[in-house]
Amino acid sequence: MVLMLNCSYKAKDSNTQYFLELLKKELGSEETQILPIRQVLHDGFSEFVEKLQQAEGFVIGAPLYVDGLPAQAVKLLEMLLEGENLSLSGKRVYVVSNLGFYEGEQICNLFDIVRNWCDRMQMVYGGGLAVGAGPMISTLKSISLKKGLNKDVGKGLERISDCIRKGKSMENYYANTRIPRIVYQQAAHMMFRQTLKENGI
Ligand SMILES: Cc1cc2nc3c(=O)[nH]c(=O)nc-3n(C[C@H](O)[C@H](O)[C@H](O)COP(=O)(O)O)c2cc1C
Repeated sequence: MVLMLNCSYKAKDSNTQYFLELLKKELGSEETQILPIRQVLHDGFSEFVEKLQQAEGFVIGAPLYVDGLPAQAVKLLEMLLEGENLSLSGKRVYVVSNLGFYEGEQICNLFDIVRNWCDRMQMVYGGGLAVGAGPMISTLKSISLKKGLNKDVGKGLERISDCIRKGKSMENYYANTRIPRIVYQQAAHMMFRQTLKENGI
């Protein structure tokens, strides 16, 4: 079983959830489960630990928040560090991350945080997939990820799912859209203005 954790605290419309669902689909016949971190932190930590110990692979789905991991993800990783009698040594940990910045490469600190945590846990860092301009890619669901402007994302999903299936590690993969940066910026500004209006600002 492959255990996936959605570290976004959003109850709905989580972009991370969208990318984890895509990975689940790409994994095909592999048994997978996606857990929301809310549930794990509020009342399901011991159950989560049990599942994690049994899982063949662990995928941390993490949005980039303030250039790092969301606070709730840091909390959970600390709880695991402090956990006693955990048999997680040697287990492979992958990351699927998306971010508001245009360039996926801006995620590198988040990948390093998870890599360092893996070292301390004696787990194996399996590599990460970063999706730049993530909110736009998850909103424009009708645009193919197999060819065209967002084909890098499709390629990244294929690569990480192949490694998970084979229990191998990979180099971090930074998937970027080919939609021009200026178009992305303008779309983001329109969305910001609309949100401000909706909030009476
Ligand atoms: C509190 C907060 C902080 C964020 N900080 C960053 C950031 O530093 N860099 C970035 O590229 N995107 C940042 N973002 C954008 C998120 O990474 C992006 O919207 C992502 O798609 C959110 O995923 P989610 O819907 O699963 O929560 C931030 C979003 C929030 C809510």
